Amino acid sequence: MCGIVGYIGKSSASPILLDGLRRLEYRGYDSAGLATIDGGRIETRKCKGRIQALADLVKENAAAGHVGISHTRWATHGQPNDVNAHPHFDASGRLALVHNGVIENYQALRAPLVEAGHKFRSQTDTEILAHLIGNLYDEAGGEHSKTRLLEAVRGALKQVIGTYGIAVMHLDVPDALVGARRGSPLSVGLGKGENFLSSDPQAVIAYSQEAIFLKDYDVAVVERDGFQIGTVEGGVAGSYEVTKVDFTSDDVKLGDYPHYMLKEIFEQPHAVRDALRGRLSVEDAGARLGGIDMTPQELREVDRVIITGCGTAYHSGLVGEYLIESLAHLPCEVEFASEFRYRNMPMDKDTLVFAVSQSGETIDTLAAVRESLRKGHRTLGICNNVASTIARECGAGVYMHAGPEIGVAATKSFTSQLTIFTLIALLLGRIRHLSNSDGLKIIKELQAIPEKIERVLEQSDRIKEIAAKYAGAKGMLFMGRQFNYPVALEGALKMKEITYIQCEGHPSAELKHGFIALVEPDMPSVFITPDDAMYDSNINSIEQVKARQGPVIAVGTEGRRDLAKIADDVIYVPPCADYLSPLLTVVPLQLLSYHTAVHLGRDVDKPRNLAKSVTVE
Ligand code: F6R
Repeated sequence: MCGIVGYIGKSSASPILLDGLRRLEYRGYDSAGLATIDGGRIETRKCKGRIQALADLVKENAAAGHVGISHTRWATHGQPNDVNAHPHFDASGRLALVHNGVIENYQALRAPLVEAGHKFRSQTDTEILAHLIGNLYDEAGGEHSKTRLLEAVRGALKQVIGTYGIAVMHLDVPDALVGARRGSPLSVGLGKGENFLSSDPQAVIAYSQEAIFLKDYDVAVVERDGFQIGTVEGGVAGSYEVTKVDFTSDDVKLGDYPHYMLKEIFEQPHAVRDALRGRLSVEDAGARLGGIDMTPQELREVDRVIITGCGTAYHSGLVGEYLIESLAHLPCEVEFASEFRYRNMPMDKDTLVFAVSQSGETIDTLAAVRESLRKGHRTLGICNNVASTIARECGAGVYMHAGPEIGVAATKSFTSQLTIFTLIALLLGRIRHLSNSDGLKIIKELQAIPEKIERVLEQSDRIKEIAAKYAGAKGMLFMGRQFNYPVALEGALKMKEITYIQCEGHPSAELKHGFIALVEPDMPSVFITPDDAMYDSNINSIEQVKARQGPVIAVGTEGRRDLAKIADDVIYVPPCADYLSPLLTVVPLQLLSYHTAVHLGRDVDKPRNLAKSVTVE
């Protein structure tokens, strides 16, 4: 979603700002802009479309200067166009601001300023912030100073209802940037003789490996050789921590891959190994998850588990539900994070809540976490981004360690989350009825998974051929049962988000209850039918599709040659325990979506309308 990069230092600002925006490009955006202070002027370039278009503008007409702010916008209020792109300015044109988030009361705040003669140029909710801050700055009078700017920012933010991550600069205070956050991430990146503001430290990883993640209501003044962090209310922030950013600029490089999505699909054996690393204990015949910070007795007292998340993370939670119920015999329920706080589920004191989020910044999941914590429930995060807001606010949980996921479509984060749910189910199960030998068997099965994923990946070229065969389909149906029902949902999500083909995912046996009406020759059905307890029932559903001339692509287990007799195309995965099969069966579906999207000429890593990290409700 929207991205912010700010720079103050000795180097020319615009190349650094453009480079930072490019590193955030994967998150999804529809316009981009930057502003620099160049001597006595603010230079602004902004436009609809890709960062390359912005770079071309800067090339044509340089924006010089050693201080600047920049932004990628994902439209919420007002169309994606040049005027609505950030930065926005105050009435004097001397203050520039970029903003992530939504100002809910912007209409109410705007009315008195319009009455006072302020002219608004855009349809955005953001522009009001620039006017408010500029107005307070001008009204304050006196000497131009960073303190005067800081107080104006504070005064404006106190009036705001909504969410924000902002970076502000003022022509009269050219030696400082001001940043603030509430509900939308912002960090201060530390360099030598230069400092940064960014919505994600990944943006400035080439220049700074140390970051301070601002907390809600923090305000930071960033200068070339220093910074101060305070709060919106006034005074200094209670505490802050300097975090070493645990990846390098090489981790976010594409290497020899044509797209990040393909790179990340191929990184899955590694991601699963990293999710397991140091967490399997042969001695205990179980899992060790120190991050959850619970004693065996506390774990024993858990009588119900709730999992919440959005999109792919929600789907991993659905597999988690099957895992926790079958391995730990605990009641488990999964709820969309966006519904969690509105549903108001009855939960008792021994309910344990898991919030799953790759980015750790998804606003719906964050809202669910806050609601759960407000009610006093132990709430644990399963996050990839260390020091993300969800990870921080949960205070405990399990990190995924999957490395940066750049492609908008989640791939390696899904298999990483499945691995973690298996570990959680093993941990909870071993405290209950799972025997030592059951535990050892699960450990052995888990350890074999990365190598089995490698075997699935070897079939990428064959899956490419299948993708080409069905790329013209008008729609696709994805079906699976039990552990693989959520995989059907995930397969459908992956296919539709990057190919724009209409897809549905269902439990196979629901076919005859309605959506069989959709089956026809240009509506292929993808069946996830490993050699498990549900095999015969899946075959039955395949027969029903074939009887109606529906083409069938099946994902089955090596050795089940009978599948090839009824399905049009079969992709085989190695045999494994039923409960681990989603870790293998999802991989061909990711590759099928990827190759179909490439065949159709789609922008695989940046599909239309989507953003990597959804920080607005
Ligand atoms: C799908 C996808 C989204 C995310 C969802 C949650 O490929 O990427 O559905 O899974 O927006 O994101 P996180 O996990 O960052 O909370």
